[in-house]
Amino acid sequence: MLYNAVIFDLDGTLTDSQPGICACARYALEKMNAPIPGDDMLHRFVGPPLADSFMRFCGMNEEQAIQATAFYRERYIPIGWKENRVYPRIRALLHHLKAQGVYLAVATGKPQNISMEILKYFGLLPYFDQVAGPTMGELHANKADLIARVLPEGKKAVMVGDHPGDIQGAKDRGIDSIAVLYGYGENDEILVNQPTHICETTDDLCALLCPDMPAPRGYFVTMEGVDGCGKTTQAIALQEKLTQFGYTVIRTREPGGCPIAEDIRKIVLAKEDGGMCAETEALLFAAARAQHVHQVILPAVQEGKIVLCDRFVDSSIVYQGGARGLKREWIKEINKAALEKGAPDVTLYLRMDHETALSRRLAVSDPDRIEQMGDSFQARTQAAYEELLAENPRRFLAVNAAQAPEAVTEEAFQALFDRMIEGGVL
Ligand code: TYD
Repeated sequence: MLYNAVIFDLDGTLTDSQPGICACARYALEKMNAPIPGDDMLHRFVGPPLADSFMRFCGMNEEQAIQATAFYRERYIPIGWKENRVYPRIRALLHHLKAQGVYLAVATGKPQNISMEILKYFGLLPYFDQVAGPTMGELHANKADLIARVLPEGKKAVMVGDHPGDIQGAKDRGIDSIAVLYGYGENDEILVNQPTHICETTDDLCALLCPDMPAPRGYFVTMEGVDGCGKTTQAIALQEKLTQFGYTVIRTREPGGCPIAEDIRKIVLAKEDGGMCAETEALLFAAARAQHVHQVILPAVQEGKIVLCDRFVDSSIVYQGGARGLKREWIKEINKAALEKGAPDVTLYLRMDHETALSRRLAVSDPDRIEQMGDSFQARTQAAYEELLAENPRRFLAVNAAQAPEAVTEEAFQALFDRMIEGGVL
C-alpha cells in the first residue's frame, strides 16, 4: 500500500456531474425559449459559474443569464444533483481502502453541504473520515486550503484529482498527487503541473492505490410478476439508477435476449398458436433460456456485470406449471442446464393484483398468445407467484408495484441495493 491517507476531489474524480448539469442547462434554455445547443456545447457548462456560461455560450445578457440560472436551479435542486454518476469501481475502491484502515477524505470546490448530500445519496459518505468544501458564505476556497482542512498528521497522504488545481494544491501542501484523466480537466494542463502519478481510468487508480483489490463481482437479478405489472418500465429505470450508482449493467429479457432465443420468442408468443401443446411451450421457453444463459447471462456475470433479466425460470414454473398445470419437477428438470449455470442471486417480484395489471397492459397494446388466456389463467399465475414468494423468502424481494412508477423504482432499488451491499457487490 503506497499511501495510508487518500484525499479525493469530488466532481470528475469520484462522480460525473455532467448528465445532471447538461439536463438542467437544457431545461433552463427551454424555459427561456432559447435555442438548445448540441451536447458538445452543453458539456462546457460543467465547471465555470453558470451565469458566465449562459452569457458566453448562449449569447445572453446579464439579466437573461440571471433568469436562466434561476430556471436551472428550479430543476437542479429537486432532481439535477441526483443525476450524478459514480464512476465505475469507485465504490469498491473506497470500500477496500477503508477495510485496510486507510484514512479517506474529500477536498472539493463544490459547496460542502451539497457535496455531503451527494455522497450520502450515493451511499459513499460512510467511507470518508472528513469532507471539506466551501462553507456557507465562503464564495471560493483555494484547493490548498481545502486540502489543509482534511490533511491528517503523520500519514503518507496523496491527493487524487482531475483538475490542475488539485495537483497544484497537493504541491502547495507538500504531498503527492495522482492526476486522473477520465474527468473534465484538460490533459495537457493537468500534466504541466507534474503530478506524481497519472491514471487514465478508474481501473488504473484501483491498481495503484489498492493493488490486491479483488475483481468486481457480477450479480444476476431477475424480475418477475404477472402480465402488465410494469417490469419493463422498472427494468429500464433500475438499469439507469444502478448505472448512476457506479455499476455496469446489462438489461435483457426472456424469452429472448440473443438471436436464437429471439427466434424462439416469435414462435412461442405468436398470436396463432398452431395447436401448440403445453409441453412444447415449456420446452421452447427452456431452449431459449439455455442459449440465453450460455451466450449472454453467464459471460456478463463472469465479467463482473450486473445482469437485469426480465423473467426467468420462475416464469416457467408459474405459467407452464401453476397456470397450465405441468409438473413443477419436470419444468425444473428441463431448465437444469440454465439453473446450474446461472441461478439468480435475487429476484425482484413486482407484486400486483392480476386484474389491474392486465387492464394496464391491454391499454398499451394488443395481447400476445399468453396474455389472451383469460382471467382464470392470470389468477393462477398470481397465485403461483405468491407460492414462490412464500417458498423463497430470501431470494424473492417483493415490491409493491401498484404505486406510482417512480415510487416502485425507489422501493425496488433500495431493496436491491441493500442486498447487493450486504453481498459485497460493490
Ligand atoms: P412479454 O411480451 O415479454 O411480456 P411481459 O412484459 O409481461 O414479460 O411476454 C412474455 C410472455 O411469456 C408473458 O405472458 C409470460 C410468458 N412466459 C411464459 O409463459 N413462460 C416463461 O418461461 C417466460 C419467460 C415467459
